[in-house]
Amino acid sequence: MENKKTILSAIQPSGALTIGNYLGALKNWAALQDEYNCCFCVADMHAITVRQVPAELRKNSLDLLALFIAAGIDVEKHILFIQSQVPQHAQLSWVLTCNTYMGELSRMTQFKDKSQRYSGSVAGENINAGLFTYPSLMAADILLYQADLVPVGADQKQHLELARDLAVRFNNAYSETFKVPEPYIAKVAARIMSLQDPFSKMSKSDDNANSYILLLDPIDTAVKKVKRAVTDSGAEVKRGEGKEGVENLMNIYSAVTGKNMEEIELEFEGKGYGDFKGTVAESVADCLRPIQEKYNDLMKNKDYLQEVYTAGAQKAQGLANKTLRKVYKKVGFLQ
Ligand code: TRP
Repeated sequence: MENKKTILSAIQPSGALTIGNYLGALKNWAALQDEYNCCFCVADMHAITVRQVPAELRKNSLDLLALFIAAGIDVEKHILFIQSQVPQHAQLSWVLTCNTYMGELSRMTQFKDKSQRYSGSVAGENINAGLFTYPSLMAADILLYQADLVPVGADQKQHLELARDLAVRFNNAYSETFKVPEPYIAKVAARIMSLQDPFSKMSKSDDNANSYILLLDPIDTAVKKVKRAVTDSGAEVKRGEGKEGVENLMNIYSAVTGKNMEEIELEFEGKGYGDFKGTVAESVADCLRPIQEKYNDLMKNKDYLQEVYTAGAQKAQGLANKTLRKVYKKVGFLQ
């Protein structure tokens, strides 16, 4: 590998991706490929912290792999792999778990949220130890590849902080082993909100399907969803208090086209919401179309996808094993 810094990130294959996932993560990651060595992971081991239907998990993992490629990840130059196919994740995760304090895991807001949210639901019967120790597995994902930078959203900052603490703790206890990863903060991080309630994040688990656009929504459905998005009783396309719905559409338009907010306000000066929504909808369609075409092509060629993940696992194992060997030696496992 060239002397570039390493970026690592991962997405759980726990269902369809929204355009928010794409604009807030995938699209930006694809743009980092010239500057960094990239490792991207389909985090299927994380997904089973919630009970999965096996056939759906398989489908979601393959879908996600294809979407990474459709979003422009170059699998020749970079490493795209499926977590469960690289056993070093589970192996390092155990060592890290033995160096993680109960108190640290108990403070993770995502665990507190999830265990609260799940109790009383079907998933509530499965508040399992994996849900609790999952941040140690996430730390293993990162530390195995000696990643310099990890692009994560706000909800994962605390987990990344733990990965840093674990790296430092291990290095201090056993000598320098892990690179201490930094969060990668995107220059423009698109945070896309619900189309029906601009105060909550766009999420595929929302009850109202009009509140999100899936990357694989039929184009006419996506267009309709934009046109039905909530705005306000005014008529001006600009940011401001009470105009969160309009601002969210402006954000989408900005992320898709690369235009900044001032340019967008100028573009729609004197025009109404109808025009504005029409243009945003068109830009969303233009964004989704090539991704869907690529995805559909890839899904017709499952052999190719299999080749990609097999080669990806091999490359990932090569890197991961180097780190794991050092760790096993240092903790005193016989060689
Ligand atoms: N936990 C992350 C999420 O739910 C996904 C993830 C798993 C991840 N391993 C990672 C993100 C390593 C960054 C680095 O979104």
